[in-house]
Amino acid sequence: MEASTTLSRIGLAGLAVMGQNLALNIGEKGFPISVYNRTTSKVDETIERAKREGDLPLTGHYTPRDFVLSIQRPRSVIILVKAGSPVDQTISALTQFMEPGDTIIDGGNEWYENTERRIHEVSEKGLLYLGMGVSGGEEGARFGPSLMPGGSYEAYKNVEDIVKKVAAQVEDGPCVTFIGEGGAGNFVKMVHNGIEYGDMQLISEAYDVLKVVGGLSNEELCEVFTEWNNGELESFLVEITADIFRVKDEITGEGELVDKILDKTGMKGTGKWTVQQAAELSVAAPTIAASLDGRYLSGLKDERENAAKVLWEAGMREGEEVEAIRSKVDKKRLIDDVRQALYVSKICSYAQGMNLLRAKSLEKNWDLNLGELARIWKGGCIIRAVFLDRIKKAYQRNPGLPNLIVDPEFAREMVQRQAAWRRVVGLAVQAGISTPGMCASLGYFDTYRRKSLPANLVQAQRDYFGAHTYERIDRSGAFHTEWAKLARQSKAGVGSLN
Ligand SMILES: *[C@@H]1O[C@H](CO)[C@@H](O)[C@H](O)[C@H]1NC(C)=O
Repeated sequence: MEASTTLSRIGLAGLAVMGQNLALNIGEKGFPISVYNRTTSKVDETIERAKREGDLPLTGHYTPRDFVLSIQRPRSVIILVKAGSPVDQTISALTQFMEPGDTIIDGGNEWYENTERRIHEVSEKGLLYLGMGVSGGEEGARFGPSLMPGGSYEAYKNVEDIVKKVAAQVEDGPCVTFIGEGGAGNFVKMVHNGIEYGDMQLISEAYDVLKVVGGLSNEELCEVFTEWNNGELESFLVEITADIFRVKDEITGEGELVDKILDKTGMKGTGKWTVQQAAELSVAAPTIAASLDGRYLSGLKDERENAAKVLWEAGMREGEEVEAIRSKVDKKRLIDDVRQALYVSKICSYAQGMNLLRAKSLEKNWDLNLGELARIWKGGCIIRAVFLDRIKKAYQRNPGLPNLIVDPEFAREMVQRQAAWRRVVGLAVQAGISTPGMCASLGYFDTYRRKSLPANLVQAQRDYFGAHTYERIDRSGAFHTEWAKLARQSKAGVGSLN
């Protein structure tokens, strides 16, 4: 046997910020780790940090061969490079030196089908594969991320002790679990990011209403978000939002930085994939879609500046309607209403994400455990929030729950808060302040809870022009009607409305 004391327990290739931080985290938890990057300065940088941050058991390697051979078998190698072809390149550089039973773990934001393709490709060499979602940004990677590994269960078992120590820890365990086979880990991470888009959009709308309709200053906004973070909205995103309002602009020395930031949003793709998948699976995800549309529209800064000139009534400026409304609102009550509107809008958004996960799980036979997914999102990741514990419990109480919003506890909360929700959305609509996320959530809620929808008319139209047939409410079977003919006859017969 080789002297395993000189070999590392695991390896990590790709030493951009996330990779470096995750490697240091693993070393700090007592697992000797080998690191590699094509750019040798990245290796040196990481070695230097490992020394500085506590003499961590980390060794640097400068060739794929040395790197792979420095790891004990069966080898597990995490790669953290840009999604897409850099992953394929890294895999082919490393796998030449790997042996049957070894594992590649891709920690990037990869499209789940790429992972499924790679699982198949490396299996021809007897290699195992995990696609592992990693959430929590740089901080998370260094001090405890939420980890979403999917693919080979055997490969998961090989690193289970490591990932359980490296992940964020919450009172009901580490924020990691084996997600499911194939690309399940990447898919769950993708939906996590879609939910994150929704949360950020909803928070920005709450900010907009409070600022524009409520007239709150940055200082007041900071107080409001700080207070919210002590209640049912307690979450990472609400917490950092409070912080943001505190930061002064250092460049001009005047006012807060948030007001100097151009209102154009960037994005990398996981939100778009989430909406595409929702459409593919016929799952309604209007809040997440609204947040994606919000980002697209924000990108049209020049067009919006022009539209701001032409789309207000003659003589009116943007904001004039608002002034009239602002003078009448009770600020305290508005703040409380917006808090409630944000909370229930968020519940609807999570319900959409969870339903998307369930639909995909059924299609792919992943057997996803929705309660467990809510649990591993309680710490480490960007959407971490106190209310995820309640989502976990809702799915534990009833794993077959058709929709989060009909769980008895969430249902009660939604009913209690709907008056406030409608007041906020109504006020925003009146003032011309767009709140597409909150409106989408409210529309979802109002549509889902209605026994009858105007879909009868849509069915009639479809049957009229396309003979698509319709069902009846009072007897079974598919029916078709000669609508045009009957309408002509009755027109000839009646004609009472002229
Ligand atoms: C190494 O570093 C460079 C530059 O930071 C990066 O582009 C590359 O993908 C990294 N990964 C590997 C495995 O070489």
